[in-house]
Amino acid sequence: MSGTQGFPVDADFTFIPKAAAIAREAGAKLREFLAAGVATEYKGDVDLVTVADRTVEAFLQDALLTAFPSHGIYGEEGARDRLDSEYRWYIDPLDGTTNFAHGFPHFCVSMGLEHRAAGLAAEHDGPIVAGVIYDPMLDELFTAERGKGAYLNGKPIHVSSVPVLGESLVATGFPSRKRHENPNIHFYQEFTLRSHGVRRAGSAALDLAYIACGRMDAYWEFGLNPWDTAAGFLLVEEAGGMVTGFDGTYRKLDSKEILASNQLIHHEMLALFQDMFAGRNLAPLLSPAEYAAKRAAREARMVADEGVKL
Ligand code: IPD
Ligand code: CA
Ligand code: CA
Repeated sequence: MSGTQGFPVDADFTFIPKAAAIAREAGAKLREFLAAGVATEYKGDVDLVTVADRTVEAFLQDALLTAFPSHGIYGEEGARDRLDSEYRWYIDPLDGTTNFAHGFPHFCVSMGLEHRAAGLAAEHDGPIVAGVIYDPMLDELFTAERGKGAYLNGKPIHVSSVPVLGESLVATGFPSRKRHENPNIHFYQEFTLRSHGVRRAGSAALDLAYIACGRMDAYWEFGLNPWDTAAGFLLVEEAGGMVTGFDGTYRKLDSKEILASNQLIHHEMLALFQDMFAGRNLAPLLSPAEYAAKRAAREARMVADEGVKL
């Protein structure tokens, strides 16, 4: 049974009911900002930020601390509050800022909750115990609590059953910082050749939510942060998927490099990462100059053929 707030009313949730209502309210604010139009500022190179990012982060901080007064907050736009608490929310008020700034309607609110047991060393992660991702444009609310499954608008979701990379739809993203240091275009090419296609939709949290509900089969990225991934990690795992680093090791909350999948194609992808980092089995990438030369040769042949017919 699903409740009107988009989470199952018969499941024994601890954090989701309040957190989901907060995410919905935050999403409504994003919709209003989008309709009103907002100016864009630069945090760096092409790293954009708007008044919507900052206002919604302040709202989330306030609303979460009101709902959960003993919890801490760690937000993308700088919110750092009560970080020695047993529970800590990683929040991204607007995941997909570049899309938002251009009016491309694919972005979300993302909130993941880590449980840090007393005595846990600062360098160790606690388990993520709750995750909420809300897409305000599609009114899609993804929720999960550890051990209680993953849901989309209150209905249980599961990762896909696609068994091989060759039949899969995969996703990736590119960072807005230090773009010239990122090798991902090579991976984009290789995965494009070996799958049904690669989508680069611009919201890491929604990419992970889409793995969880089976719309896509795997996702990888090189430069992520805990506010992008905390909620999505739990969604993928609760939906039956797998999240690791590119070498198959345990991913940490602050891991930059992430591979998430439906589990079935995980090892095939890991092997490809291994090959690529070792420079093995790469399909040659035609350079623009080589392409132009081939095109010119083809056109010359056509002109010659026409000439013969004439
Ligand atoms: C970005 C998006 C994008 C991903 C970037 C993230 P932001 O987050 O999730 O899809 O490729 O790595 O930084 O800046 O829109 O919150
Ligand atoms: Ca983000
Ligand atoms: Ca953001």
